[in-house]
Amino acid sequence: MQQNKKKVPEDYMRQALELAKQGEGKVSPNPMVGCVVVKDERVIATGFHEKYGGFHAERNALLNCTEDPQGAELYVNLEPCCHYGKTPPCTEIIIEKKIKKVYVGCLDSNPKVAGQGIQILREHGISVETGILEEECRALNEVFFYYMEHKQPFVAMKYAMTLDGKIACETGDSKWVTGEEARAYVQCLRNRYRGIMAGIGTILEDDPMLNCRMEGGRNPARIICDSKLRIPLDSQVVKTASQIETIVAFHPKEAERYRANAGAETFEEVKRKLEQQGIILLEIPFKQPEDMEQPVNIAQSSENFQRLDLSRLLQKLAERGIDSILLEGGGTLNASALQERLIQRVYAFVAPKLVAGAKAKSPVEGSGILFMRDAVTLQDIEVMRFGEDLCMMGRVRR
Ligand SMILES: NC(=O)c1ccc[n+]([C@@H]2O[C@H](COP(=O)([O-])OP(=O)(O)OC[C@H]3O[C@@H](n4cnc5c(N)ncnc54)[C@H](OP(=O)(O)O)[C@@H]3O)[C@@H](O)[C@H]2O)c1
Repeated sequence: MQQNKKKVPEDYMRQALELAKQGEGKVSPNPMVGCVVVKDERVIATGFHEKYGGFHAERNALLNCTEDPQGAELYVNLEPCCHYGKTPPCTEIIIEKKIKKVYVGCLDSNPKVAGQGIQILREHGISVETGILEEECRALNEVFFYYMEHKQPFVAMKYAMTLDGKIACETGDSKWVTGEEARAYVQCLRNRYRGIMAGIGTILEDDPMLNCRMEGGRNPARIICDSKLRIPLDSQVVKTASQIETIVAFHPKEAERYRANAGAETFEEVKRKLEQQGIILLEIPFKQPEDMEQPVNIAQSSENFQRLDLSRLLQKLAERGIDSILLEGGGTLNASALQERLIQRVYAFVAPKLVAGAKAKSPVEGSGILFMRDAVTLQDIEVMRFGEDLCMMGRVRR
């Protein structure tokens, strides 16, 4: 008879990673963490961080053991915390339950933990082994690590284009580029990211809802870049702003000037009406030429300096606890974000369709680069298929 193969630490860590994923969309800005407790080669408990503010994975697992965990081994994809936050430190319960050995996927970059979690465990005679499936563990929480290390939201640009590189027809019609399966996956992405960002061009053209329609999903905060406050009061996003967090980034002087020229309602009136609907208005300055990092990949043009400073906007969003953003363009906003080097990940959906038209919009517009050698490139590429559509995704190479 064939013997069951003895499990190695990587097997249990894989299980911890799978458990961690169940927290997707529910724990941010916390990381997704899963935990497996093993005694005499038997799993006696599992747990994961289920919701923001709730118990961490280790505590959930250790309170859920089918037998006394004394002398057991514990597998967790992120270093156990050692500080009092919304819940007591995980190191405390690991020590209290007399765990013999802890296997850690990767260290925490939160300065309140950062190596101190494992140090405390070792000081209490618990053996600790780190770096089990480290790459996978860091990849699962790429958003958390980026946000912790840069104090800025992790931005993923997502677009759907035809085989000839268009995100809409010349008329602006864009419903739909991809099929149902690809669009269902986009709903999963919206559940995963804490915010969704679009330009006013897209709002005026498509009047989208920008919500998450995945079953049991969570609506991301909607962020609209609209210097002149052109957003219509009867647009879907404004009409639903009392139910879904909606932020409009604008430039007060530009909005005032535009309103004065338009001769309709004054800027103050529009501002008051938007706020009454529940819109959060964020004043953002324009990008200044001297702020541009050198050298830039995308050719600079004066046109780019009459745009909201997206880095400043991201800082303000980070202060509001927004750790990640799904950027759903269009091409004008996408180009600015790329030029400001704010994009960390790309999801490019490609549909087997051709629409042609020199004036039909493409995913990233702006001035573009002059030489192919300066192209922004991706790494860690994955290709997924959704019905007849493809999605190529990867991280922006730095
Ligand atoms: N297939 C897809 O995946 C997809 C996704 C999204 C959109 N679309 C299509 O894209 C089209 C709209 O694209 P678009 O390029 O015209 O509009 P957009 O990128 O959605 O919006 C551009 C506008 O946003 C405002 N803005 C504010 N801050 C900005 C900044 N820092 N950088 C750039 N823009 C900033 C500007 O207007 P102000 O100066 O007035 O502020 C700008 O004109 C629509 O046809 C839509 O259907 C397709």
